[in-house]
Amino acid sequence: MTSILAYCRPGYENDTANELATRYGEKEYFGYPVSKSNTGFVHYNLYDNTSLGNALALFAVSESIFPRQLIGVFATLNDIKKDDRVGQVLDALEDVSLEALTGAHGVFGAIDVEYPDTEDGKTLAKFCRKFTVPLRQALRKKGWLSPKENEVKPKLHVFFESFETCYIGYSLSGYRSNDHLGICRLKFPSDSPSRSTLKLEDALVNMLSANEQREVLRAGGRAVDLGACPGGWTYQLVKREMYVEAIDNGAIADSLMSTGLVEHHAADGFTYRPQFGRVDLLVCDMIEQPDRVAKLMGDWLVKHWATHAVFNLKLPMKRRYETVIEAMSTLMTRLNALDDAFTVKVRHLYHDRDEVTVTIVRTS
Ligand SMILES: C[S@@+](CC[C@H](N)C(=O)[O-])C[C@H]1O[C@@H](n2cnc3c(N)ncnc32)[C@H](O)[C@@H]1O
Repeated sequence: MTSILAYCRPGYENDTANELATRYGEKEYFGYPVSKSNTGFVHYNLYDNTSLGNALALFAVSESIFPRQLIGVFATLNDIKKDDRVGQVLDALEDVSLEALTGAHGVFGAIDVEYPDTEDGKTLAKFCRKFTVPLRQALRKKGWLSPKENEVKPKLHVFFESFETCYIGYSLSGYRSNDHLGICRLKFPSDSPSRSTLKLEDALVNMLSANEQREVLRAGGRAVDLGACPGGWTYQLVKREMYVEAIDNGAIADSLMSTGLVEHHAADGFTYRPQFGRVDLLVCDMIEQPDRVAKLMGDWLVKHWATHAVFNLKLPMKRRYETVIEAMSTLMTRLNALDDAFTVKVRHLYHDRDEVTVTIVRTS
């Protein structure tokens, strides 16, 4: 059985399964999703006549919402004996055509030994780290792993669900997440007024390209932060030397006010309008219905009150994938009716909880 293995936040298996089934189904990649709650991963099992490589190349992790990583699985090991785990992984590789998976030379560019992002999964972390060393050596001896890490070639993933069961597969350059477990860990800046700051940093660093970051986050540019208090998002913008109109009835951190870059307005984010005309960036972290927030973001972009936008859509308990799709499709209909072009991404980031992050960059 071949399958696409997607890592996700534990508790989001159904949403990930729905997304995979929809996206592969739309392209007639026949199969069905299999998931168990709170495991942190989902399989989309492919029928035999579907090419694993082509399925992997349909969309990148960065173009999806819930998957943290996408891996094409070509072997499953059950009842692994602990005295020769390396040998059993090598045997599984012996049985497949590496040329078909990795291209002409049959060589992987890197290896990652991983585990689910759950409390049970974390008990495998130390073992996985140690196991990487002999496995890497054995793969190099066989000539199946490039002598130096190579980012362009496919990466081999060995994903241990438990000490006894693992999935062996590969990811493609340009389509995978380059982070171990698909998780980008960021250090909390101790002078930030709130931990929410990591959500915006994650979005700015991981959802915007280097060029987009330069364009959207210009020093001296203007931003509006709706639902700003206590100021974790404003902190990220101030750090980049932007002027910020911070909108919230709550209290904003004194440390931000003393920078001279922040104006605090105790006002309703739904009726506030920019003080000095169009701003470069609108950000919004208000806890509100997703369709209401998407409508508000649409108003700002359509009416040219903001050039670009980064915002969170808070998710309900049920039908989370469908809710995101509905809110975004209404917004996209409005943006598509404009002459301007936009790059839009929606991601469930590692630092997000029950919410997704949307970035909208106006490109013309
Ligand atoms: C999740 S917190 C924002 C945290 C903030 N991004 C940070 O990093 O510190 C949501 C904020 O939205 C504010 N809020 C909710 N509804 C609002 C509205 N209609 N207008 C303005 N602010 C609102 C709340 O007062 C609250 O401070």
